[in-house]
Amino acid sequence: MKGNIIIKNASELVTCSGFQARKGPEMTNLHIIHDGSVVIEDGKISFAGRTSDLPDYHDPGRFDVIDAEGKAVLPGFVDSHTHFVFGGYRAEEFSWRLNGMSYMDIMARGGGIVSTVSATRKASLEELVDSGRKRLDSMLSFGVTTVEGKSGYGLDRDTEIRQLEAMAELDRTHPVDIVRTFLGAHAVPAECKGKTEEFLDFIQGTVLPEVAEKGLAEFCDIFCEKDVFSVEQSRRLLMRARELGFKLTLHADEIVQLGGAELAAELGAVSADHLLQASDHGIEELARAGVVATLLPLTAFSLKEPYARASAMIDKNCAVALATDLNPGSCFSESIPLLFALATLYMNLSVEEAVTALTINGAAALDRADSIGSVNVGKKGDVIVLEFPSYRFIPYHVGVNTVEKVIKAGNLVYDKLNGGNSIVK
Ligand code: NIG
Ligand code: FE
Repeated sequence: MKGNIIIKNASELVTCSGFQARKGPEMTNLHIIHDGSVVIEDGKISFAGRTSDLPDYHDPGRFDVIDAEGKAVLPGFVDSHTHFVFGGYRAEEFSWRLNGMSYMDIMARGGGIVSTVSATRKASLEELVDSGRKRLDSMLSFGVTTVEGKSGYGLDRDTEIRQLEAMAELDRTHPVDIVRTFLGAHAVPAECKGKTEEFLDFIQGTVLPEVAEKGLAEFCDIFCEKDVFSVEQSRRLLMRARELGFKLTLHADEIVQLGGAELAAELGAVSADHLLQASDHGIEELARAGVVATLLPLTAFSLKEPYARASAMIDKNCAVALATDLNPGSCFSESIPLLFALATLYMNLSVEEAVTALTINGAAALDRADSIGSVNVGKKGDVIVLEFPSYRFIPYHVGVNTVEKVIKAGNLVYDKLNGGNSIVK
C-alpha cells in the first residue's frame, strides 16, 4: 500500500507533540496548530505545521489529499489495556451484578474469568481471529490505531499460546497495530483450585519461557488482587518475566488496596493499571519511578466501583493514561466516546488531559512514545479527522462518535462518509 497522504486546512491540528510520557501539569498542553496540515510519506509523518508552510511537492500525484477544512485532526488513539481476544460472553453476569452480586462474589462461585476460560479453550484459532477482527473494526471506527491485547483466558499452555497467535495474525492482517501481553496469571483455573503456587510454577516455568522464546508477547501482566495473586506471588512471576526480557505491567489495586502500585514502582513496570484503591504512598511511588498510571473508568462504571483518583495522581506528577479494558466480564465496552465522558464528567480530568491520556500517554504505557501517540515528524502516520472543528467536541458530543476518518500509516482505513469502509493492510 502507498502510505502517502496530505491532510490539509485542519481548523485545529492537535499534535500532542512529544516523545515521552507527559506528567502532571504537562498533560494540559496539546500543542495545537491552527490551520494546520500533515504530510505522511511512506507511512511516516514528514511534515506537521501550518498550512501556509506546506512544502511544494514536485510530484503531487504521489499523494492522496484530504481537505480537513472545519475539522480537527489528532493523533490516532492508543488503547493500552484490553482483553479483546476471547470466546463466549457473560451477559448473565451483568444481570447478577444488577441484582447485587459483586464481581468477586461471582468469581468465588466459579463464574467470572474462569467461565470465559472454558469458552476460550473450546474456540479455534480461526474463531478467535474472526471475533477479534470484528472488535478491532469497531475500535478502529472510534479512532483507535494501536491496541494492547492480553492472553489470560486459557490458563493452560495451548490456549494461552493460541490467544497470542490470534493477535499476531490480526496484527498482520488488520490495520490496527496490536501490542501483545502475556497474562497467564489472570486467575487460578478450576483444575488448580487451592494450588495457586503450583499453578504459578507452571506458568512461570513452562509457559512464560515458551512465550519468550517464540517472541509471542512483549509485556507480561498479572492480576495482583486479594484472593487471586498476592504481591509476593506477583513479584516472583514478574521478576522472572523481566529476566526473560518482558516489559512489565500489572492489574494493581483494583478491588482491594494490596500495594500493587508500590510493586509496579519497585519493579520498574512500564504501567500500573486500574488503581481504583491505590494509596497516597502508592501514587507517589508511581510518580517517582515514572510508571504510567493507566486508568480504566469504563470498568469502574460497569462495576459501580468508585473511580480512580485521577486528579490526585496528576497533582502528584504522575503520567496518566486512559484505556477501555474491553473484556467479556467486568467491562464489555470499547467505547472511546463513553470513556471520554466518564473521564471528564466523573473523574474531573480536563478535556486536554483526557486527550493526552489517550494519545501520547497511551503510547508511553506501551513503551512506544518514540513512534506513535503524537503528530511529530518521523512518527508513524496514524491520525484521525473529526467531524467537528475542535477536539473539545469529543466529550461535549456526549457518548457519540465524533471520528470521521482514520488514517493508519498514511492510508485512509476508515471513512464514515464512505459507509465506514475499511481497507485491510
Ligand atoms: O481488567 N481484573 C481482571 N481482569 C479483567 C477482567 C476480566 C474478566 O472479567 O473477564 C479486568 O477487569
Ligand atoms: Fe484488565
